[in-house]
Amino acid sequence: MSLRTTAYVTDVTPGAGVLPPRAWYPASDAKSLSLNGTWRLRRSATADAHDDAFAAPGHDTRDWAEVTVPGHWVLQGDGAFGSPIYTNHLYPFPVDPPHVPTENPTGDHVRVFDLPKDWPRLSEGGALLRFDGVESCARVWLNGTELGWFTGSRLPHEFAVGELLRPTGNVLAVRVHQWSAGSYLEDQDQWWLPGIFRDVTLLHRPEGSVTDFFVHASYDHRTGEGTLRVDSGVAGRITVPALDIDIATGETATVPVDPWTAETPTLYDGVLATPGERVPLRIGFRTVALEDGLIKVNGRPLLFKGVNRHEWHPEHGRALDLETMRQDVLLMKRHNINAVRTSHYPPHPAFLDLCDEYGLWVIDECDLETHGFTEQSWRDNPVDDDRWTPALLDRAARMVERDKNHPSVVVWSLGNEAGTGRGLTAMAEWIHARDASRLVHYEGDVDCRDTDVYSRMYPPHAEVERIGRSLDGGTRKRRRLPLILCEYGHAMGNGPGGLADYQRLFERYDRLQGGFVWEWIDHGIRHPELGFAYGGDFGEELHDGNFVCDGLLFPDRTPSPGLLEYRKVIEPVRIEGQGRDGSVRITNAHDFADLSALTFTWSYDVEGETAATGTLSVPALTPGESAELKLPEPPAAEGPEARWTIRALLARDTPWAPRDHVVAWAQLPVTPHRPPALTPSTAPASTADGIRLGPATFDARTGTLLTLGGLEVTGPRLDVWRAPTDNDEGAPWQPDARLGPLWRKLGLHRMRHRVDAVEPDGTGLTVRTRVAPAGAEVGLATTYRWVSDGERLKLTVSVVPEGDWTLPLPRLGVRLALPRADRVRWFGGGPGEAYPDTRSASRPARWTASVDDLQTPYVRPQENGARADVHWAELGGLRIDGDPAFWFTARRWTTEQLEAAAHLTDLTPGDRVWINLDHGQMGIGSQSCGPGALPQYHLHARPAEFSFVFSTRG
Ligand code: GAL
Repeated sequence: MSLRTTAYVTDVTPGAGVLPPRAWYPASDAKSLSLNGTWRLRRSATADAHDDAFAAPGHDTRDWAEVTVPGHWVLQGDGAFGSPIYTNHLYPFPVDPPHVPTENPTGDHVRVFDLPKDWPRLSEGGALLRFDGVESCARVWLNGTELGWFTGSRLPHEFAVGELLRPTGNVLAVRVHQWSAGSYLEDQDQWWLPGIFRDVTLLHRPEGSVTDFFVHASYDHRTGEGTLRVDSGVAGRITVPALDIDIATGETATVPVDPWTAETPTLYDGVLATPGERVPLRIGFRTVALEDGLIKVNGRPLLFKGVNRHEWHPEHGRALDLETMRQDVLLMKRHNINAVRTSHYPPHPAFLDLCDEYGLWVIDECDLETHGFTEQSWRDNPVDDDRWTPALLDRAARMVERDKNHPSVVVWSLGNEAGTGRGLTAMAEWIHARDASRLVHYEGDVDCRDTDVYSRMYPPHAEVERIGRSLDGGTRKRRRLPLILCEYGHAMGNGPGGLADYQRLFERYDRLQGGFVWEWIDHGIRHPELGFAYGGDFGEELHDGNFVCDGLLFPDRTPSPGLLEYRKVIEPVRIEGQGRDGSVRITNAHDFADLSALTFTWSYDVEGETAATGTLSVPALTPGESAELKLPEPPAAEGPEARWTIRALLARDTPWAPRDHVVAWAQLPVTPHRPPALTPSTAPASTADGIRLGPATFDARTGTLLTLGGLEVTGPRLDVWRAPTDNDEGAPWQPDARLGPLWRKLGLHRMRHRVDAVEPDGTGLTVRTRVAPAGAEVGLATTYRWVSDGERLKLTVSVVPEGDWTLPLPRLGVRLALPRADRVRWFGGGPGEAYPDTRSASRPARWTASVDDLQTPYVRPQENGARADVHWAELGGLRIDGDPAFWFTARRWTTEQLEAAAHLTDLTPGDRVWINLDHGQMGIGSQSCGPGALPQYHLHARPAEFSFVFSTRG
């Protein structure tokens, strides 16, 4: 055994001693032994701190620590094994390929195992040792014999070990280095998490067992027939009982089938039987083609309603168990998502089985990103350096060979943000030659030289529309290709805004075949003091903060408002109409399925209360088809505010959601809301305490409201500030769209209120003020006009901007505080938060929530929780009616405290509840990475007038 031979760590070749890649399958009748579980771990700070004597049988590891495999050692041992590091694109080590730092955390892993009693005799066939994922470089020994080493963290690697096995006391030793030449190819925007993080399995390989096999299962939509052929390294037979297929490997059978699509994921169970093994197959017949400039499956174009999915678990990092993977798939299906890009590496192979089973289109992406080279204008980029090409081809082959038998995989992606170069071309050529049945994607190939789809990330709406109309130019080849947005809608913090506007474009222009929101889940790490940790919370010297929390799910997989918005925007049924004349138009927006899986209901709601319900008979429309239907006569007399709510529900239980799960809905207003009228009937009176007007008292000098019907009220007064969202703060590469810094520079977070006049008159009280930031000439002339009918109090706020306002306002409204409030009832949009460009899922009705429930727990605290279109709200004994409807927010801390907090645990309730009643809110946009809010969602400083009627109850 050699001493201190860690030179392989900087070797640009992919590894040594590893078997060629082959198809992955979960189980067959051949024996296998999971080596997951508790392993011994010795962590060292450098790659060569110890010689390799530990790999020898009999080496005493009793005083070593223990670690769970699959797992990342930095997420175990309460910090004793080092910490995670988060960077977006910067390499956390000097860029000097292929060298890595001397400080190279290294985990020596040892696992001793016996073969199970029923394990075949060692002379019967061979055995393989399979690693499904190790970050970033592993060297492996079995019973003291070195098997080899490998890189390619999220790819499988197998070794032949048959002749080395013993019945008992086998010693498997794995030395894992955090950094290797391979790290240069794995610069994805995520935590750096070393370890054996996917399964380790020993597979018996009987004589004549399956080596590699390729299931070709196509579908001809003209004949309704599927054609099956299975190529196999070892000859055998294929049987598919449900289809009466019994053919030899290499032979072809063509039979009538139900095709596989993400909407109708029909799988046929089959078996590949060779002399030594029976491998179960789940066969989905489908044909992917680029035709007429469109991606078509089974002859029909499809629209991706996708998400980018990193593997993430808040405690286990990228070591996901099957139930977590299933939860992801179920959550996607329940939120109308039909596609996943496996950003930015092949996922655990079992995830793709779930995609086959439940139905999701998959863009399977190779484990390749070299983004950090952008810092040096891509000089020395490994993907344009022939020395690295074998490693790139190895990665492409390991992905394609592993995943080629999944019907869900329709597109191969070469990787992400790796610049351009010969290595990428070589990968694309290899993939095209190996698998002509799928398309090739790579966003960095702007000319589409090597790819079959034009792909962009974060283009503004206007540009997407230009591409939709084919006005974008580009190479001849590109002009003939469809566009997909491999990333859009950056779901960092509050947002993303503008999804509905993108969806309208996707639906309008054939060339636009949809996109994938960035990204599925926040990568927050559960932390004893901070709730969820993000970049910098582990003392990293280089990090990108909470840019790692940009998902549609919170780290614990609770759906965020962004996911609820997305679900609404991508509903597979469109329901439109005129509530007044009772007509409704239903359109099937699926690509493949008819509407026979759905039932439709209506309800007639008066002032947010359901007055009557019924069912609506909708024909089983084919994709793209519409039907005009008539709603029944309004069941109730016209109320003050009436509307129809139409819902499309699952007619039966499905594998992914129960019967009655709501797939789509719409509201059709019938009669508008009538805000309460208030006729002023009392005049203000001076008292010893100030000014009395109806139920209220005011400070005579400042005109400030002091009490209202016995309630102590702070404010209301004009407020324009919100705790900037991640999108307000903007990405460093969007300097003109970084509203947060621009707003602070202008001073909108520290407005001064100057009282110019307090004027009681015969019918009320007028308070004239000017609200403006120190150091600037802009201001808002603000007049508060108070009147009362003796019982209730009405405030009308008039705002006239002064000076040259070039920036939009964060919000415009009033802020007040009440001493206490717990339950909130309101009539307006809900149940969740909404902002001007994120309000599709906000449904007007009567809602109840506690103040705490109104908060959206963004990992980094920021503006959140506004309810849209609120006509009235009740809390803490106060009722507020708005004219017009307003944005309602209530929280137990101030905006300033919210803004100062870095984690949710920084927020502690004070003794008051702070309420914002807003006439306007600035849109949210997506500029934490992409474009800002569209102009129609900007809150411009313009003359405005809005009013509220306050009354007290109880
Ligand atoms: C993209 C990148 C993703 C992620 C995203 C921002 O450029 O492909 O990995 O970094 O930006 O969150």
